[in-house]
Amino acid sequence: MSLVTLSSGKSFQAPDGVSILDAAAQANIALPYSCKTGRCSTCKCKVLTGTTHALRPETGLSEQEHAEGWVLSCARAADTDLVLEVDDLGGIELPRPKMWPCRIKEIIHLAPDVVKVILRLPPTADFQFVPGQYIDVIGPNGIRRSYSLANSSFADKVLELHIRAVEGGAMSDYWFKQAKPNDLLRLNGPLGTFFLRETVDIDLVFLATGTGIAPVKSMLESMAQCQFDQRPRSITVLWGGRHAQDLYLDVDEIIGEFSYIPVQSRPANDWTGARGYVQDVLLDAKPDLTNAVVYACGSDAMIHSAKVRLVEAGLPDKRFYSDAFVSSGAK
Ligand SMILES: Cc1cc2nc3c(=O)[nH]c(=O)nc-3n(C[C@H](O)[C@H](O)[C@H](O)COP(=O)(O)OP(=O)(O)OC[C@H]3O[C@@H](n4cnc5c(N)ncnc54)[C@H](O)[C@@H]3O)c2cc1C
Ligand code: FES
Repeated sequence: MSLVTLSSGKSFQAPDGVSILDAAAQANIALPYSCKTGRCSTCKCKVLTGTTHALRPETGLSEQEHAEGWVLSCARAADTDLVLEVDDLGGIELPRPKMWPCRIKEIIHLAPDVVKVILRLPPTADFQFVPGQYIDVIGPNGIRRSYSLANSSFADKVLELHIRAVEGGAMSDYWFKQAKPNDLLRLNGPLGTFFLRETVDIDLVFLATGTGIAPVKSMLESMAQCQFDQRPRSITVLWGGRHAQDLYLDVDEIIGEFSYIPVQSRPANDWTGARGYVQDVLLDAKPDLTNAVVYACGSDAMIHSAKVRLVEAGLPDKRFYSDAFVSSGAK
């Protein structure tokens, strides 16, 4: 057992062989995380004193970050007492994840390679989540994959997922070729720490690619319901896809008077809107980032590039939150 102390001065006991992230959760201390597989780097933290060992490859870290003492808390266990440079989530209490049985209520095609899946839980289920969080769905043969929640509450006792087909993907094969209403599945959730922080007087910027719009939709819908004095100063949503068909939702309808910029990277000749990548389109407009908080969701490449470029342009890196749809890495 090792004692782990955080930048805030909070500390917790980490049992041998348990990841720092899980040990913190066992002690009711929430650290930032997303994939839990060492790939997205949301859980990055710096070891100031002490030593750790890797429980799995830290794919999400560059060699330079590694050399500078950064580790991934989901992939590391403590060998000795540790002092870590990392912020916990303060007083925010996220609902505890649990395993739930669920059935497919509906499967709707939103685009040739995207389906909306509606899951229903038992009538007595009191599932709770914070908009932006995701669940793990456990499908046939125990295949486990993560999907963001696209609805903003569990009021209707259903959960909405937007799922893109990945070529040769085990779970894609299930969703697009076998899944049918009433199939029995299991889910674990809610998971992740991608949720809206302070919104009052903030210029909120959302960057999404593909089905990365799902948690953004959830957050936007939740804001539409919030009190007027809790609303941000502005909201800008940039949603990118290769072609028109990849932008399968009417985002304007969700955000009302705020700004929505659809972006296509391989548009047809008659497309008159923004071209390229969401992060480039945002920066080309020379935005004032002094009051901005950015939430980015979707491809790892977009998130990585957006973070580097926005921080170079003056955004403090603590004002960039992301959820990367990294592969589970499972065969
Ligand atoms: C926190 C989180 C939230 C997510 N939310 C969503 C969501 O809301 N909607 C959604 O559609 N997906 C989401 N994903 C991705 C999803 O969990 C799966 O990884 C993805 O759907 C592929 O699963 P699969 O079983 O079909 O493919 P796999 O069998 O896992 O992979 C098949 C092959 O495709 C490669 N591959 C897997 N994923 C990708 C990718 N994204 N891009 C390129 N190649 C890939 C693999 O390396 C492998 O070679 C999320 C992932 C994470 C970590
Ligand atoms: S790398 Fe640790 S949560 Fe993704």
